[in-house]
Amino acid sequence: MATSELGLDKTLAGLGVTQAAQVTARFSDVRAHFEGHFQTVRDESDWKMFRDRWLGRKSGVLTLITDNWLKPATPDLKRVVGQELNMLRAHVEAKIEERRLSIEKSEEEWALARERVDLSLPGVIRPIGSHHLIRQVFQEIEDIFVSIGFSVVEGPEIETPYYNFEALNIPEFHPVRDDMDTFYLELPKGAPEPLLLRTHTSPMQIRTMEKRQPPVRVIVPGKVYRRDNPDATHSFIFHQVEGLAVDTDITFCDFTGTIEYFVKQFFGQSVKTRFRPSYFPFTEPSVEFDVSCIFCGGSGTAAIGGTCSKCKGAGWIELFGAGMVDPAVYGFVNYDAKKVSGFAFGMGIDRLAMLRYGIDDIQAFFQNDVRFLRQFP
Ligand code: FA5
Repeated sequence: MATSELGLDKTLAGLGVTQAAQVTARFSDVRAHFEGHFQTVRDESDWKMFRDRWLGRKSGVLTLITDNWLKPATPDLKRVVGQELNMLRAHVEAKIEERRLSIEKSEEEWALARERVDLSLPGVIRPIGSHHLIRQVFQEIEDIFVSIGFSVVEGPEIETPYYNFEALNIPEFHPVRDDMDTFYLELPKGAPEPLLLRTHTSPMQIRTMEKRQPPVRVIVPGKVYRRDNPDATHSFIFHQVEGLAVDTDITFCDFTGTIEYFVKQFFGQSVKTRFRPSYFPFTEPSVEFDVSCIFCGGSGTAAIGGTCSKCKGAGWIELFGAGMVDPAVYGFVNYDAKKVSGFAFGMGIDRLAMLRYGIDDIQAFFQNDVRFLRQFP
């Protein structure tokens, strides 16, 4: 109903109202109109319009009644207009507040209903991943060595030539450097020294001895890099576990005993092993440690005839290099070479894993083919 139909734009005199009963009737009309309007208010935006229509300061219904009916009313009607207006105001304000609360409550309930978690719905099944086979082998090797008193340390993959070569008794232009040709980092001009991707985990021998005094018993799992052409047993990125034990009375027997204990734990009691003389500038004497080829049973012959491609007919597969720490190395870490002795080894983990699990191509570790990875949950 419009303002004019309720007579709000006119004074009471203009509407011909002269009696108190007429005033009351006018207010009843207004209230009836209010009740009708009240029923239509459903949400927050309805409510705002409704509030402004009735309580708005400039042109709300109550303001119009005050300005057009109350203020110009004759003295005999003023009291009754005032009383009616007060009652109407109290009613309007109470109802508007009541509706505000009920809208607010129903919106909250609606939001709660929307957010409610339905525990009866089936859950989302996420596939559980597993560790890469290399990581599993690292773990197994760590467990074996930790059980005989070694601790595990890790070191940087980016090294200085000093730690990767010089402190390991491999001076510049030493021919051994050719075997371990590597990736050097491109550094800005004026960089204090060259940096390279470590070619073996042996730099951690030096870093460990610089920090600790004997007795030292550590293993160092990690990634290493070499400029080797990829084939079934070579990769330019691969993994090693370095081992180092230094004390006042460590002998070659301690060394062979430790290595054989490890190999039997890892491969089982039936595997055949052998040490071969070798050369590393940082061990003296140095050995290579081989195990019998699991692919041809050590015969050197493939099942379909011809030479076994894995051991190249040798019947043995080289697992790692090792030896007694060369006294010259102690000089780089301020150990007294006359008082201490020790052994070190560096195992190729990828080849160890290949032998243990019968994998015939090292590249499988780096291709991330889930059909391969799923076989080692
Ligand atoms: C070394 O790296 C020495 N630092 C090992 C060592 C440590 C000797 C402590 C003495 C004392 P070598 O270059 O032989 O040695 O590598 C060790 C093992 O890493 C190898 O026996 C082989 O198993 C593995 N390996 C070497 N090159 C590769 C390659 N390109 N891809 C995969 N495995 C490799």
